[in-house]
Amino acid sequence: MPSDAPARYSSAQKWLHWTIALLIVVMVFVGLTMVNLNDGPLKNALYELHKSTGLVVLTLALVRVGLRLKRGAPPLVPDIPAWQKLAAKASHYAMYMLIVLVPAMGWIATSYCCKPVNLFWTVPLSLPIPDAPTMEASAPLFRIHFALAFTLAAIVIVHASAALYHHFVRRDPTLLRMLPGSG
Ligand code: HEM
Ligand code: HEM
Repeated sequence: MPSDAPARYSSAQKWLHWTIALLIVVMVFVGLTMVNLNDGPLKNALYELHKSTGLVVLTLALVRVGLRLKRGAPPLVPDIPAWQKLAAKASHYAMYMLIVLVPAMGWIATSYCCKPVNLFWTVPLSLPIPDAPTMEASAPLFRIHFALAFTLAAIVIVHASAALYHHFVRRDPTLLRMLPGSG
């Protein structure tokens, strides 16, 4: 952890924040859609895209966590109640954990039930773990994947609402300082 907090987010931190946010929203919708489709080429294509894009999210999330540990983040805006500071810190910490854990659990579950896991139909990236004896054996891992994704989505809704509250109600620079190009 750096000893001095930086005055602003770096460009890389901002781009990673918004790229990962967009991909996660798409991933949740694609995940919920694909499991409810009838078997066929569209379902298969969405599964492939979900898994591959999820692995991209995992990579970006690990880079982002590394950057956060190395560089830190600017202090929260002053003059907010102690409970809001605590809620902000706890939710940021939880989201950093979840953007890694959600795709990691999807990867583990899929490597267990249905090898090979391919990156966009090409590079094989299955984890070296034993194969599940039956499809049902992997169900608990997929339930954990879904529960973690649901928890992340719930925290993100509160988080985005808080950002809009800062911008439109408190009129402080919290949202602006996360936008690319802002000082
Ligand atoms: C940010 C990353 C991810 C998010 C937000 C996410 C989210 C979701 C969601 C919401 C579902 C629907 C669950 C349900 O209704 O049962 C799902 C299903 C699934 N996910 Fe992910 N996922 C991510 C990454 C991954 C990765 C990296 C893999 C594998 C490499 C993966 C493999 C799967 C599979 C195979 C299913 C279908 C499970 C089934 O058929 O029951 N996911 N995911
Ligand atoms: C999947 C979606 C999202 C995830 C995973 C996410 C995650 C995070 C995390 C982990 C931080 C802490 C940054 C740090 O301390 O290094 C953060 C900050 C921030 N996020 Fe998000 N975010 C998401 C979506 C959004 C959305 C939709 C908005 C706006 C409507 C938003 C606005 C902000 C703002 C303004 C900050 C800076 C807070 C501050 O500096 O005090 N985020 N986000």
